[in-house]
Amino acid sequence: MVELRAVDKRYGAVTALRNVSFTIEEGEFFALLGPNGAGKTTVIRILLDFTRPTAGSAWINGIPSTDARARSIIGYLPENMQLPPYQSGRSFLKRQAALGGLTGRGRERTIDRLIDLVGMREKARRRAGTYSKGMLQRIGLAAALLGSPRVLILDEPTTGLDPVGIREFRQILERIKLDRVTMLLNSHILSEVEKLCSAAAILDKGNIVVKDAVAALVREGETLEDAFVRNVGVRGAV
Ligand SMILES: Nc1ncnc2c1ncn2[C@@H]1O[C@H](COP(=O)(O)OP(=O)(O)O)[C@@H](O)[C@H]1O
Ligand SMILES: [Mg+2]
Repeated sequence: MVELRAVDKRYGAVTALRNVSFTIEEGEFFALLGPNGAGKTTVIRILLDFTRPTAGSAWINGIPSTDARARSIIGYLPENMQLPPYQSGRSFLKRQAALGGLTGRGRERTIDRLIDLVGMREKARRRAGTYSKGMLQRIGLAAALLGSPRVLILDEPTTGLDPVGIREFRQILERIKLDRVTMLLNSHILSEVEKLCSAAAILDKGNIVVKDAVAALVREGETLEDAFVRNVGVRGAV
């Protein structure tokens, strides 16, 4: 459903990605892990055609990422979701839905269902300026789901949330799993990734260090965090 084939990305003298390939099967929850600056967001930007690879190609459901039809089946939650502060979460979703061509009663029903899914029924009518980071992320996730995407791409969705918020966000994503959505998640919260994702790739300085089923990455007695440190090394110590 999602594929990168031998992608290189250079920004002038900086090589952000080098020969990166991976495949995500339909319905799979896939984590892209790696230290800051590893190239995770660059992978996402290529899949969304916000930037083009220097070499190689990216594919969504067999369609090149450079084709607008590929973008039309993707829902995307950016790294730092922002909402207009004087708009409520609900009115933001209504506008986004209208931009996506949803109208009338169907639109109201979809928005109500998504607001319930992300646990914002009580708060969706408050203005977004009063929202915590976690609430912004929840409305952002609802917005990403508006077009019933087959592929969901989340860039560090829980960075900056408190532990309860992190767990609740993961539980929302578990509910989406039932719909056979394919997900690419990039996150540092490895304990949550381990519970949620079935496969992962670790990027370091633009190279894929390892990619496998999460169950295969993690050795007996290890957590995913241990496996991450074993593969990437401890900064300063290597
Ligand atoms: N627009 C850009 N111009 C120049 N360098 C960039 C640009 N975007 C990202 N980079 C560089 O590419 C590398 C990977 O960045 P990024 O994909 O944002 O990493 P991550 O999301 O894993 O933290 C970094 O060295 C970063 O500085
Ligand atoms: Mg990033």
